[in-house]
Amino acid sequence: MSRVASLFTRKSLAELQAEADRGLLRRSLGALDLTALGIGSIIGTGIFVLAGSAAALYAGPSLALAMVISAIGCAFAGLCYAEFAAMVPVAGSAYTYAYATVGELFAWIIGWDLVLEYALSTATVAVGWSGYCASLLRDMGLPLPPALTAPPGTLVADGAGGQVMGVFNLPAALIVIAVAALLIRGMQQSARVNTLLVVIKCLVLIVFVAVGVQYINRDNLTPFVPDNTGTFGQYGVSGVLRAAGVMFFAYIGFDSVSTAAQEARRPQRDMPIGMLGSLAICTVLYILVALTLTGIVPYAQLNVPDPLAVGIDATGARWLSPFIKVSALFGLFSTMLVTLLGQTRVFYSMSRDGLLPPLFSRVHPVFRTPHLSTAVTAVVVALVAGFTPIGKLGELTSIGTLLAFVLVSLGVIILRKRDPEAPRPFRTPWVPWVPLIAAALGLLQMVFLPGETWLRLGAWLAIGFAVYFGYGRSRAAGVRRARGVEG
Ligand code: ALA
Repeated sequence: MSRVASLFTRKSLAELQAEADRGLLRRSLGALDLTALGIGSIIGTGIFVLAGSAAALYAGPSLALAMVISAIGCAFAGLCYAEFAAMVPVAGSAYTYAYATVGELFAWIIGWDLVLEYALSTATVAVGWSGYCASLLRDMGLPLPPALTAPPGTLVADGAGGQVMGVFNLPAALIVIAVAALLIRGMQQSARVNTLLVVIKCLVLIVFVAVGVQYINRDNLTPFVPDNTGTFGQYGVSGVLRAAGVMFFAYIGFDSVSTAAQEARRPQRDMPIGMLGSLAICTVLYILVALTLTGIVPYAQLNVPDPLAVGIDATGARWLSPFIKVSALFGLFSTMLVTLLGQTRVFYSMSRDGLLPPLFSRVHPVFRTPHLSTAVTAVVVALVAGFTPIGKLGELTSIGTLLAFVLVSLGVIILRKRDPEAPRPFRTPWVPWVPLIAAALGLLQMVFLPGETWLRLGAWLAIGFAVYFGYGRSRAAGVRRARGVEG
């Protein structure tokens, strides 16, 4: 095979199925587990933290509208993901789909890009967790040293009226290590803990709405779309769209259900249920929370690290505030559980294909989890979480994920053309329109993210190319030869 042609080496569906069958990971997850996995991954820093600043800075009460716009984009992408996830139930998500559609180089780009989605969002959520943790400990009279709750270059209140420079976000780093320890112990245990945590975080959002709704002040909700200040993105229509781009982060995660395809008992039926079901449940909850939050607190006061607690305090039901904070901590923990899991499963697939070192697909003899990969990934994520501000992390996560969504959506169209007869237990409706709209909505949201985020994405992809041509390409060819596939 010529050198150029090898860049476009594709895996056949039969090859992928065989891979799923000989996988070492245990098939232990049902539809409910997968939906819980999705919700576990979706509800997190987006609604608990970023919703406040999105309302305060960009959208005002029309935060709810921004949520709807973002959800529509996700639903279209979800319909595309579901077709692939049911068809190719192998760990690895969009990476694997790309291998089946366009070929190796494209798959590598997606796999590399997904690091932004999974590993970086784990870091983002860890920083959100740290914010609620510091706030709770302060309430309990046990304040953490402020310099150890923020990354370098960020000023934080020192508790005595002044400000100090952050050094390292220690709680964020430590919580990542704790999550990794649980994941190494095993998938089934993790799924059980996750289901419990999901119940807790849905409950806290429901309680927030149930209590808050009685205190909604209509004045806070009018005008629903505040007038634009004259600056692009500050309220008005452009503000709503920018808020939609920011709140996209809050929906990231439904697709991580697809990374557990190899551990699902009935992937064909349960993958679409898990993905679309979790997305629908979260959308309803988010809209209700957004309306309640901006109804009880004037939006200008919401640019804080713990907006839901501020919302509850505004109702006078202060006793509920610790409950909200503790539940947020559990809730954010479960988000990290799924996103870090997703990252290690993508690495697992890439490593088995030779694109990453064998360490990433070593499975623990007793726990049957990729323990070394989890540990290495967690250490890197912990350092990133400790040293980087939440805004930068969130934006880079969003742009990386949106890019994956666009590529997966286009992949559906490509695979329909290349393999029209392949069995598709779940079919994306109205192809090519749904995938095209999904791709367009993804691109639109990318356009609304800041220019520097685009530069960071470009830099990350450039590093990825260097790794592929310097390492992965020749090793992957060796793996293919060893498997008896032409290389
Ligand atoms: N959707 C996840 C969150 O909001 C990543 O934290």
